[in-house]
Amino acid sequence: MVQGVNLAGSFTLPGSSRSVNRMGYGAMQLAGRDGSKVVWGPPRDVEGAIDVLREAVASGVNHIDTADFYGPHVTNQIIRKALFPYPGGLVIGTKVGARRGEDGSWIPGLSREELTGAVHDNLRNLDLDVLDVVNLRSMFSVHQPAEGSIEAPLTVLAELQQKGLIRHIGLSNVTPAQIAEARRIAPIVCVQNHYNLAHRADDALIAGLARDGIAYVPFFPLGGFSPLQSGTLSEAASRLHATPMQVALAWLLRRSPNILVIPGTSSINHLRENLQAAALQVPAEVLADLDAVSRQDAAIPISQHE
Ligand SMILES: NC(=O)c1ccc[n+]([C@@H]2O[C@H](COP(=O)([O-])OP(=O)(O)OC[C@H]3O[C@@H](n4cnc5c(N)ncnc54)[C@H](OP(=O)(O)O)[C@@H]3O)[C@@H](O)[C@H]2O)c1
Repeated sequence: MVQGVNLAGSFTLPGSSRSVNRMGYGAMQLAGRDGSKVVWGPPRDVEGAIDVLREAVASGVNHIDTADFYGPHVTNQIIRKALFPYPGGLVIGTKVGARRGEDGSWIPGLSREELTGAVHDNLRNLDLDVLDVVNLRSMFSVHQPAEGSIEAPLTVLAELQQKGLIRHIGLSNVTPAQIAEARRIAPIVCVQNHYNLAHRADDALIAGLARDGIAYVPFFPLGGFSPLQSGTLSEAASRLHATPMQVALAWLLRRSPNILVIPGTSSINHLRENLQAAALQVPAEVLADLDAVSRQDAAIPISQHE
């Protein structure tokens, strides 16, 4: 267990008294794989997955990201098995708006029936009466934000919130226009988009959300299915006596105070390494070199499956 680790300070969700440590954990990697179907079925080592979750929480992680379409259902069921009854202060964020095809594909699931069913699936599989954070996952394009109105699905989530099934609403894979549209319908506490050292389309968006006190939760913080590789990152890591993944996380935590990181791993050793990144000091000149990575060709193909 990583003891006494500073988890990068805390962030209070807007309009709420819920605070989370900025270093969190993303649970998607806990599901299995079946040939070309990723995030599918149970993992090879269920006990190992349970150990990762328990160690994360014992080390102070109090923000876990999940979805019932991971597995499907598998990741939430493992979270419940590992952590129920949940410790006070743990915030589990989930996502609705997608479902899985039998071929492992990611399909829009944004009708009233699908969204309501997904909220109830999450409640049942996590064994909760109310979900802390539910992100509406936009699906106009599976791999990147694309314009289109999210009024209808967000209205359904706002109704479920009014019924007491959801505490906070967030958005995922969205454009600034969709965020503005959503905020006219319901308070939005967080935005979860693809962002990392090499993929920085949301730089201006992050600054705008920071001004409004809204959390930005980058998915694929380490590059996702194709972990980040860059000469600059490796050089920075060797200067700082750290690993490239630790430097990539430390850079994110320094980028903006509203960034909450949720690195995903199925490995206890990687979990420990990632948590230690919260305490890594990165001198200004190294940050400047890292800031330049996205402008170089060092940025690496990043496969996107969700
Ligand atoms: N909203 C969305 O559309 C969306 C999309 C994707 C993901 N997410 C969420 O974001 C979370 C994070 O994304 P992600 O898990 O896909 O990608 P990620 O955190 O960028 O990277 C995970 C990958 O990096 C490896 N890894 C982790 N720590 C490492 C370390 N210290 N050294 C070397 N390799 C390491 C993992 O393998 P090992 O298991 O071997 O460590 C895994 O292959 C997910 O868990 C999920 O909750 C959301």
